[in-house]
Amino acid sequence: MKVFSKIDELREELLKNRQNNASIGLVPTMGALHDGHASLLRAACAENDYVVVSLFVNPTQFAPTEDLAAYPRTFEADCRLAEEIGAKAMFAPTPEEMYPEGDSTWVEVTGHLTAILCGKSRPTHFRGVTTVVAKLLNIVGPCKAYFGQKDGQQAQVVRRMVRDLFIPAEIRIMPIIRENDGLAMSSRNAYLSEDDRAAALVLSRSLNEAEELIKNKGLRDREEILSRITAIISDTPQAQLDYAEIYSFPDLEEIDHLEGEIFIALAVRFGGARLIDNLVVSI
Ligand code: PAF
Repeated sequence: MKVFSKIDELREELLKNRQNNASIGLVPTMGALHDGHASLLRAACAENDYVVVSLFVNPTQFAPTEDLAAYPRTFEADCRLAEEIGAKAMFAPTPEEMYPEGDSTWVEVTGHLTAILCGKSRPTHFRGVTTVVAKLLNIVGPCKAYFGQKDGQQAQVVRRMVRDLFIPAEIRIMPIIRENDGLAMSSRNAYLSEDDRAAALVLSRSLNEAEELIKNKGLRDREEILSRITAIISDTPQAQLDYAEIYSFPDLEEIDHLEGEIFIALAVRFGGARLIDNLVVSI
């Protein structure tokens, strides 16, 4: 696997591969790779001839009060894992390479899709994500780019941007990968103390309870399901609820009566860690 930090050098390498008709896949990451990222990489390697994994802790998607400085950085281990799975290139630019002096363009999906859930709690987050993902898609020009359903709203926001800007890449959304006990894999799980790690199981437990209420008990009332979820979370002293919401899937529109595919989403803080999780239920 070749490691690139410069856009021009990566593009030169990709041009050679494109001339040999190689299909290019992109897996954008912020590093601290775990089994969730590994599943994106495996899918990308199975579906493309040449896979680029990008590793960039993108400053513009963090608010000044958030965890940019503390975000886990495990570059050597990330390179080993990506190479082992079959990535051909690692793109690890500096912030100056991605945002050179004078950079003044944002790419922003506006409206309901970015105003709800994480967009409400982190108002500048998605414009940072879409700006950097647009840059990465322009730099790499992949046929397919891979995102995890764990960041379910992000995946839909990226899809909307790609659709609206006619970016010629297919956005592939891969299932959530969980630890054996149900905790969704996330680089931010590294922030959890032992006690909070145990408490964080309340995320998957309350989602499973919601699914049980819908599928086996026939509950269809949004408010009632949400109040059952929030009751479970408030019974966990370490957990501080940011949001629990239900929307339609995949458009994330408001619904009262649950039918079709629905998206149940949670964000909960445990000490310094803010974790998100979600479940798509087909009714
Ligand atoms: O999901 C992430 O790790 C990031 O938001 C992404 C898509 C790599 C953009 O920085």
